[in-house]
Amino acid sequence: MKKIFGILLLMVMALVIAACSSDSSSSDDGEDASASEGNDSEEAAGSDGDGGTVEIFSWWTGAGEEDGLLALIDLFEQKHPDITVDNAAVAGGAGTNAKAVLATRMQGDDPPSTFQVHGGAELNEGWVAADKMEPLNDFYEEQGWMDKFPQDLIDLVSKDGNIYSVPVNVHRGNVVFYNKQVFEENGVEVPTSYDEFIEVADTLQDAGVTPLALGDKEAWTATQIFENILLGELGAEDYRNLWNGDIAFDDERVVAAAEKFKTVLGYVNEDHASRNWQDAAQLVGDGEAAMINMGDWAKGYFSNDLNLETNVDFGYFAYPETDGDFMVITDTFGLPKGVENPEDVKEFLSVLGSQEGQDAFNPLKGSIPARVDADTSKYDEYGQDAMEDFNNSNLTPSLAHGSAAAEGFVTKANQAVNIFVTQLDVENFINTLKNAANEL
Ligand code: GAL
Repeated sequence: MKKIFGILLLMVMALVIAACSSDSSSSDDGEDASASEGNDSEEAAGSDGDGGTVEIFSWWTGAGEEDGLLALIDLFEQKHPDITVDNAAVAGGAGTNAKAVLATRMQGDDPPSTFQVHGGAELNEGWVAADKMEPLNDFYEEQGWMDKFPQDLIDLVSKDGNIYSVPVNVHRGNVVFYNKQVFEENGVEVPTSYDEFIEVADTLQDAGVTPLALGDKEAWTATQIFENILLGELGAEDYRNLWNGDIAFDDERVVAAAEKFKTVLGYVNEDHASRNWQDAAQLVGDGEAAMINMGDWAKGYFSNDLNLETNVDFGYFAYPETDGDFMVITDTFGLPKGVENPEDVKEFLSVLGSQEGQDAFNPLKGSIPARVDADTSKYDEYGQDAMEDFNNSNLTPSLAHGSAAAEGFVTKANQAVNIFVTQLDVENFINTLKNAANEL
């Protein structure tokens, strides 16, 4: 009940945002990346399997974000020339703008044909709990997918025995990418513990290099650092228990994590608040900063946009103290209730969930396929390492990317982090998180 209330609140907030903006689908710096080749009459007609439009709603626009999606759309268009694709992406990392636009549309019974949603709480406590999604169990059976996705992922997109979306990928959130030349020039090695990380950061800072790049114009990038520190302090099991409500936010290990977060924030670039994640990652690419903690969509950005080579120009390691853990972020797409041409949408989901679709999307996106039977030769060393780690690690849900807790809590946590980054007040931070825990 509390969760449903949280969703209603989110929807009301989204309506207010939409009312303040003359064109919500191209809000702020969020250009509308619509690539519709359709025409209105076709769109209005809709269809069951022949000639309608599939509107794909995501936040994958621009650098490091859209290459995978465009490859997937290309593949779909080759297979279904009769179906028109409307790429309705709204820019803004981690769905900062897109989620508000989506909420407005869902509230107005105007769902996109399909939309990007993280597996876990964002899907299940959000749109499924609000009764906005069609179950896809029969579709999974028809496609022969029940043994093609790991059970852990199927669980993340299921509620009360029904499956509600199709995972296209798995991103890892607890990765630190680093500039190899900067490490070499400063004689530092990959740190294997928090203390070593601090030693490395001190050496770099003394040499005039920014140790850790941060771009928290959107607060989720800092929340991501905090969740990784939490994982390191609590270990995988108790990190999960935090989101179940079994561990309190004033647990001494959570307080210790906040203290470490404060220390780590002492090593970031001064202009962090004016940068987005790509601008921050670019500091590492250019050698102005040494490291960045970022989900491995940054790997797509380094390879595709900055033309950097894996293990030559940049290297990577698990966030200190989280080796053996894998912070899971899975982007998924489902079938909203009330779309005009569900059969066309299912054709898209069928390609997105196919081996071919996943192997077109993921090598460009920096993620690994959600399916168990990918063609590993299509992935570079980073992708192959990530696949191996996924199979051999404790899997933990990301807070910053919607899997660990419902949207109401994520919003409050991002706000708390945003304030913490400037005030560095551990007590206040812990109290705010504790007060927000009733949203879990
Ligand atoms: C995440 C999403 C990723 C990537 C990232 C940055 O929430 O799962 O696919 O797009 O945001 O925008």
